[in-house]
Amino acid sequence: METVVSGIRSTGNLHLGNYFGAIKNFLKMQHENNCYFFIADYHSLTTHPNPSDLHDKVKQVLVEYLACGIDPEAATIYIQSDLPEIAELYLLMNMNAYIGELERCTSFKEKIRKHSDNINAGLLTYPVLMAADILIHRAHKVPVGKDQEQHLEMTRQFGNRFNRIYSVDYFPEPVAFNFGTELVKIPGLDGSGKMGKSEGEGNAIFLFDTAVAIRKKVMKAVTDTGPTQLNQTKPEVIENLFKLMNAVSKPDTISYFDEQYNAMTIRYGDLKKQLAEDMVLFTAPFREKILELLSNNDYINKVVRQGAEKAHESGRKTVKEVREIIGLKSF
Ligand code: TYM
Repeated sequence: METVVSGIRSTGNLHLGNYFGAIKNFLKMQHENNCYFFIADYHSLTTHPNPSDLHDKVKQVLVEYLACGIDPEAATIYIQSDLPEIAELYLLMNMNAYIGELERCTSFKEKIRKHSDNINAGLLTYPVLMAADILIHRAHKVPVGKDQEQHLEMTRQFGNRFNRIYSVDYFPEPVAFNFGTELVKIPGLDGSGKMGKSEGEGNAIFLFDTAVAIRKKVMKAVTDTGPTQLNQTKPEVIENLFKLMNAVSKPDTISYFDEQYNAMTIRYGDLKKQLAEDMVLFTAPFREKILELLSNNDYINKVVRQGAEKAHESGRKTVKEVREIIGLKSF
């Protein structure tokens, strides 16, 4: 049986990118594999969240995960900071991670550009912590979106390097996984390329959004002045809207607007209205379930306790074995 690990930062609500990039694949795998899903609250500390609302954010993300259909009886769902073994493995893996490779990481360069006032060491070593999350369960597959590809490459590098340094065959090589052949990148609504919680206002559609909020955001989505030639290649902002349709609309709807585009008769207002309604239909059951779960604290607490216990078992074993390999033996 293969081991699968995936996670999400606890920095904001779940959006369609998270769902189609990672969760949908995880759902398909949870009954046939040894699956772990966690809320990355240690990772969220790089942005210095307010202590008074950190806990509520973790709870919200956990509930949203459960509302998506992650089954705590099949998969182990836990909070990253409930597993201090991750912090120990992170420390140990940091010894074999080189500053040069961490500085070259695309997500680090992007963070420097966006948050020049807070370039902390946690940001630099973010990929090492992420590797620790994956290696702690000696995972084979990691369902993630396209934006995490480089982090997975680095995880393999750190795991392989550990194996080489200590002449062991301990960590398997984890791969970024999608049931389709390619990793997914769901575009945002503002023409910026990627749907993300830290992108601008109006970029992302969250599973918890109300119908009113969804309609408002979609109607504001960036478009152009329309096609100027029959059957022309779509510019990126328009292609993005079609990609979003691809995720939530019926094939007939997509071909209808595709034909309209090719014939130069398309009205973007109509396309957006349809897209908004399809998104509302898609997200409504999740929103309902989230609201229902949020009021069920006993259940949430039980899930978290049970998850921490199961994840601990695996984490403790790995750290014990890694310590032995390194030579940190008990007296
Ligand atoms: P995060 O919290 O940004 O996103 C969680 C998951 O959602 C995917 N995703 C997307 N997929 C497609 N299109 C998009 N627009 C889009 N936006 C987000 C991400 O690829 C990810 O799979 N570093 C990770 C969290 C993490 C993790 C891990 C993941 C920490 N440790 C170990 C897997 C394994 C992150 O920031 O994801």
